[in-house]
Amino acid sequence: MPTSDVDLFADDVLHDPYPALRHLREVAPAIRLTTFDAWVLPRYDHVRTALADHERFSSAHGVGYEDQFNAQMKGTVLASDPPDHTRLRALLSDKLAPKALAGLRTRITALADDLVADAVAKGDFDAVADLAAVFPVTVVAELVGLAEEARGPLLSFADAAFNTFGPFNARAEASIPFVSQMFGYLNTVMVPENLRPDGWAAAIHQAAERGEIEAASVVPLLSAYVIASMDTTINAIGNTILLFARHPQAYQEVRAEPALVGPAFEESLRLESPAQGFFRRTTQPVDIEGITIPADTRVLLSFASANRDERKWQRPEEFLVRRNPVDHVALGYGVHGCAGQGLARLEAQAVLGALVRRVSSIELAGEPVRKLNNVIRGIASLPVTVRTEGQ
Ligand code: HEM
Repeated sequence: MPTSDVDLFADDVLHDPYPALRHLREVAPAIRLTTFDAWVLPRYDHVRTALADHERFSSAHGVGYEDQFNAQMKGTVLASDPPDHTRLRALLSDKLAPKALAGLRTRITALADDLVADAVAKGDFDAVADLAAVFPVTVVAELVGLAEEARGPLLSFADAAFNTFGPFNARAEASIPFVSQMFGYLNTVMVPENLRPDGWAAAIHQAAERGEIEAASVVPLLSAYVIASMDTTINAIGNTILLFARHPQAYQEVRAEPALVGPAFEESLRLESPAQGFFRRTTQPVDIEGITIPADTRVLLSFASANRDERKWQRPEEFLVRRNPVDHVALGYGVHGCAGQGLARLEAQAVLGALVRRVSSIELAGEPVRKLNNVIRGIASLPVTVRTEGQ
């Protein structure tokens, strides 16, 4: 049985997980991690096959590592299997469908353009604090249906919640108070009298009133949407701006051909997958090329590794804005494939499109500060200097 003692959640690995992931891909297609009670699938084909196989790779125990944290997500879209999952996912599907998103496009594009214009006017700014972190919170809070004054703490919740998807290390421990605050906030602030009637949160409350879901599922379901929509998108945008700053030629290619904004964003999702991986639980023994993963075992599906698998991608470590890797697994795949992927693309392309239109060059104005999180790959601070045409 192939084993490894690498701790994929240790600080040094989170700073640069790619050497460890490359090593795991070389070792075997399925590896038991001895630091934790879990296995990992590091190669693309197996990750994608497992994502499509919810009968053997179940989400119903939760998609985090620790049972105690998984219990909090019980009854949500993320932590369920069909047929429950099908019913839960349907609750907000019309609000995230292409038709609903088409109606949001003008507003989101205008919002992004204003935000980028304000940042660019400064010349020097922090592309995370001033841009990437502001935008999804504004958009999502509006869609959830929250009044402006109630939006404040949303950001700290998502970061903390993703930490608790990993094993119980110092990062997860430090996040517990924020996660408790989040559930308190969802219980008290996100109640019908504070919510716009056409928002996501109201739709979930209404489904409970109609008896379509249990009252006890309202807060976990709300939490899943709030968590899933925040740090993922923020860091996807931050990661892409960092890639543009580090690859000026690629940025100029996109500027010369703005239709490349979409493909460049997909390439960034592949190369720096914002959600690095989620767990599944095997429901029976599973054979992976002659290696047997026992039943009732936690298995980490490493999207970050799959998306750099040299068996799948040519020059996997490079940022190639014309690659358009539409079959990456950064947004998952199968029944749990990201429910908000259309919105994520709309938000990111709005911000990146506005940058490309307004900014002729992006340079780092200092070392980016990495934000370490047990699941999310992202940046805490990204100081940049930008120039506009003619400057
Ligand atoms: C670039 C940004 C995003 C990334 C990288 C991302 C990534 C992912 C991934 C990898 C999954 C699969 C989880 C699994 O297989 O267990 C997922 C699921 C999900 N995402 Fe996203 N996501 C993003 C943005 C969003 C947004 C904006 C929303 C807003 C609604 C959202 C809502 C969800 C939900 C509700 C699920 C659970 C779907 C299910 O279990 O059926 N995500 N996301």
